[in-house]
Amino acid sequence: MGRLSFRSFTFMFIVAFLVWSSNVEICNARRGKHWKQQTRTSSASLYKKKGKYHGSNHHHKSGSKPKPKYSSPPASTPTNPPSKGYTPTNPPSKGYTPTNPPSKGYTPTNPPSKGYTPTNPPSKGYTPTNPPSKGYDNVPSTNIFNVRNFGAKGDGKTDDTKAFQAAWAAACKLEASTMIVPSQYVFLVGPISFSGPYCQHNIVFQLDGTIIAPVDAKSWGSGLMQWLEFTKLVGITVQGSGVIDGRGSVWWQDTPYDDPLDDELKLIIPLNKTLLRHPSTPLNSSLSGKMPSIKPTALRFYGSFNVTVTGITIQNSQQCHLKFDNCIGVVVYNFTVSSPGDSPNTDGIHLQNSKDALIRSSNIACGDDCVSIQTGCTNVYVHNINCGPGHGISIGGLGKGNTKACVSNITVKDVIMQNTMNGVRIKTWQGGSGSVQGVFFSNIQMNEVQLPIVIDQFYCDKRNCENQTAAVALSGINYEGIKGTYTVKPVHLACSDSMPCQDVTLTNIQLKPIQEHYHMYDPYCWQTFGELYTPTQPPIDCLQVGKPVSNKIQADHDQC
Ligand SMILES: *[C@@H]1O[C@H](CO)[C@@H](O)[C@H](O)[C@H]1NC(C)=O
Ligand SMILES: *[C@@H]1O[C@H](CO)[C@@H](O)[C@H](O)[C@H]1NC(C)=O
Ligand SMILES: *[C@@H]1O[C@H](CO)[C@@H](O)[C@H](O)[C@H]1NC(C)=O
Ligand SMILES: *[C@@H]1O[C@H](CO)[C@@H](O)[C@H](O)[C@H]1NC(C)=O
Ligand SMILES: *[C@@H]1O[C@H](CO)[C@@H](O)[C@H](O)[C@H]1NC(C)=O
Ligand SMILES: *[C@@H]1O[C@H](CO)[C@@H](O)[C@H](O)[C@H]1NC(C)=O
Repeated sequence: MGRLSFRSFTFMFIVAFLVWSSNVEICNARRGKHWKQQTRTSSASLYKKKGKYHGSNHHHKSGSKPKPKYSSPPASTPTNPPSKGYTPTNPPSKGYTPTNPPSKGYTPTNPPSKGYTPTNPPSKGYTPTNPPSKGYDNVPSTNIFNVRNFGAKGDGKTDDTKAFQAAWAAACKLEASTMIVPSQYVFLVGPISFSGPYCQHNIVFQLDGTIIAPVDAKSWGSGLMQWLEFTKLVGITVQGSGVIDGRGSVWWQDTPYDDPLDDELKLIIPLNKTLLRHPSTPLNSSLSGKMPSIKPTALRFYGSFNVTVTGITIQNSQQCHLKFDNCIGVVVYNFTVSSPGDSPNTDGIHLQNSKDALIRSSNIACGDDCVSIQTGCTNVYVHNINCGPGHGISIGGLGKGNTKACVSNITVKDVIMQNTMNGVRIKTWQGGSGSVQGVFFSNIQMNEVQLPIVIDQFYCDKRNCENQTAAVALSGINYEGIKGTYTVKPVHLACSDSMPCQDVTLTNIQLKPIQEHYHMYDPYCWQTFGELYTPTQPPIDCLQVGKPVSNKIQADHDQC
């Protein structure tokens, strides 16, 4: 009894702390990426346009290929062939074969590419029993809650939000319960929060069917930060072979010129100047303002412990696909993101204020960062990831609006980048404080990556940013075994004048140029100190060996 109440007290304290800390830290960061900027042009960011000019007339819109080129291993065979369903326009490699005519109004444009074989078996051993296809006839086992038993139609047209809420309310009451979203059905679900402060622990959300988002503006009010949210839970697992489809194209086309731009675009100069990277067509006024300007993240976990996401696919998100805020103990594996390379601001996985995160064995194709690691993250391990199209794996942007950012102990290992804009990148805004310490990028295969290795301490996603002396301090940044091909610049290390990067090490770097449609450049470094442990290809002679002579000593409040 005493132990139990101590436990509950501890839990309540932790939840209270998470809520408090999110209020303190999260507001600015939340806005960061989604904050609207009006225009873009060339920047004041530090880079030199030296380098070779090679002629070519081909237009290449960066990162616009909808699918990774590399072939995936064969798709898994579905164990449970559906009897119902919708007809995808393209044959999905993942494997449902609908036999019945579709429920009208849902046409997936981008079937998920599934299918590498992770080496490790799932650590949590839930074996999905065949979910009842006609839920009403079944007496559910005591702790299994099928949304169909709560009135969900799953016809892709009826709004099933209330049924999902009811099923969750039931599952919430029992420890280690399972909420089932059965295969063969397409559930139209509006914005929903699976909220947990009063829920029992270790709930499983078994997703084998498809969940689609509403595409009418009125479902979204004046704009929401997320579509499907899980908050304040202890032990939550989202698993299964199902699909979450944000049907984001209505959002992407809606306000394309309002979205912040990836600063590194400024480094990518097409050879044929008559070809603009983005056509400057004005907004179609009949479209603009239709959807709210705040775009939701498809699936967001907030303030939770021991969160697992596995098996599922998230595709065509309105904005970010999968986000963890203020979570401790995150495991993502055998997970797929599938969105076009030109879908704006569609990050794959976004981590913020989260600790002890493992992201592995996943395929991520999207229009922005495949994995984005933001402030407050520590002990993050990312490995065995296929990334592309996309903007690579990034830490930051940190320190926006003169904020303090703290990131430490980040490992990114065994990654294949295919046709991405960046490879591995750290980006910070001028004027920030705090630090990034202990980053290991190792065994990264770069295939036709525009900018494989990037540190940008002058990040700015609008036209101009004021020059400031303060900066997020970078130290202990290690690159090892970065190999493959690049199409613009192999290495771009632009560090702050007042806060040079320290202990940057490069080991076994082999990057070969491929002329595509851009100006090509030599390696570039600015205020970057560290060591080359092996000869590199190409030679990187701009790195300054040793320590900076006059490194500004960080003020106490800058320490993390
Ligand atoms: C640039 O591309 C345009 C459109 O394809 C073409 O008409 C023009 O000749 C090209 N210019 C050069 C200098 O190659
Ligand atoms: C603008 O969008 C409307 C509705 O989708 C369409 O009918 C119209 O042709 C578009 N106009 C232009 C100039 O693209
Ligand atoms: C999270 O999982 C770990 C390992 O299973 C366990 O030791 C820990 O107590 C869990 N955390 C919470 C808050 O339940
Ligand atoms: C990966 O997920 C798929 C469902 O999307 C499943 O069929 C497969 O068994 C999973 N593989 C492992 C090793 O967990
Ligand atoms: C760094 O993170 C890894 C997980 O990625 C963890 O195993 C290790 O203990 C951490 N190191 C420190 C010093 O906290
Ligand atoms: C910032 O500094 C850079 C490099 O010294 C300079 O080129 C640029 O014009 C400055 N920008 C502003 C807004 O002052």
